[in-house]
Amino acid sequence: MRLELKKVVKQFGGLTAVNGVSFTIEGSQLVGLIGPNGAGKSTLTNLISGILKPTSGEIWFNGERIDGKPPYVIAARGIGRTFQVTRAFRRMTVLENLLTPGLAKFGNRKSRAQLEEEAMEILRFLTMDHLRWEYASNLSGGQQKLLELGRLLMMDPDLIILDEPFAGVHPKLQRTIYDYIKRVKARGKAIILISHDMESIFTLSERLLVLNFGTLIADGPPEEVKENPEVIEAYLGKDEEEDQFLPTAA
Ligand SMILES: Nc1ncnc2c1ncn2[C@@H]1O[C@H](COP(=O)(O)OP(=O)(O)OP(=O)(O)O)[C@@H](O)[C@H]1O
Ligand SMILES: [Mg+2]
Repeated sequence: MRLELKKVVKQFGGLTAVNGVSFTIEGSQLVGLIGPNGAGKSTLTNLISGILKPTSGEIWFNGERIDGKPPYVIAARGIGRTFQVTRAFRRMTVLENLLTPGLAKFGNRKSRAQLEEEAMEILRFLTMDHLRWEYASNLSGGQQKLLELGRLLMMDPDLIILDEPFAGVHPKLQRTIYDYIKRVKARGKAIILISHDMESIFTLSERLLVLNFGTLIADGPPEEVKENPEVIEAYLGKDEEEDQFLPTAA
């Protein structure tokens, strides 16, 4: 897996949401992407997954230029992502929600029975197998997030981008999501994790990218980034020098 961004810019009218961002992710790293509200994290995710087209710059995935390609093409190439606001098919059952992406990607290679088996395995892992006949619209917000993670796994992507997977989720389900991320990483997947939950970010990430007003202000090991004066200032503003925002990593 290799993802490379080259001087990627995204403007919305007069606002530069992503301002010349360059980085490369290779292999099965878990990369945390952090930054204050409005820093451009979700916009960057939308650019990588094809929801948005960069104003300028290039995005390369496994040797192919992908910026400007439609989302379904990029998904088929092996990039999966979740949305900050979940997008499960609310009028389908939980099992159907998993089968749909599985059939779309592997329908010509795997039987429906095999895909159902895989879906059930994923549901068991997400502790949702008892909900398989339930309509997605009847799930809690947290369960819908889990369902979205399950849909991702059905596509078996090389790179997974998780946009705020813990936000608004019951603490018990947060633990399931945390374990899910660890297990998916153990399967050799590269992960970009966006979260305001600093404890999870610092315990899970091997590398941290920090965005501030669309600009990448830090890129390195979490322990190093935490000490970066520009990062500290981005979170605190200039007046509260001594306050500590970033927690000590466990
Ligand atoms: N479709 C859009 N049209 C216009 N402006 C947008 C659009 N999407 C995002 N923006 C603006 O771009 C900037 C970056 O937004 P973005 O959602 O990427 O930030 P974020 O880092 O994900 O923030 P948060 O932590 O709150 O999720 C913000 O100023 C936002 O208002
Ligand atoms: Mg966001």
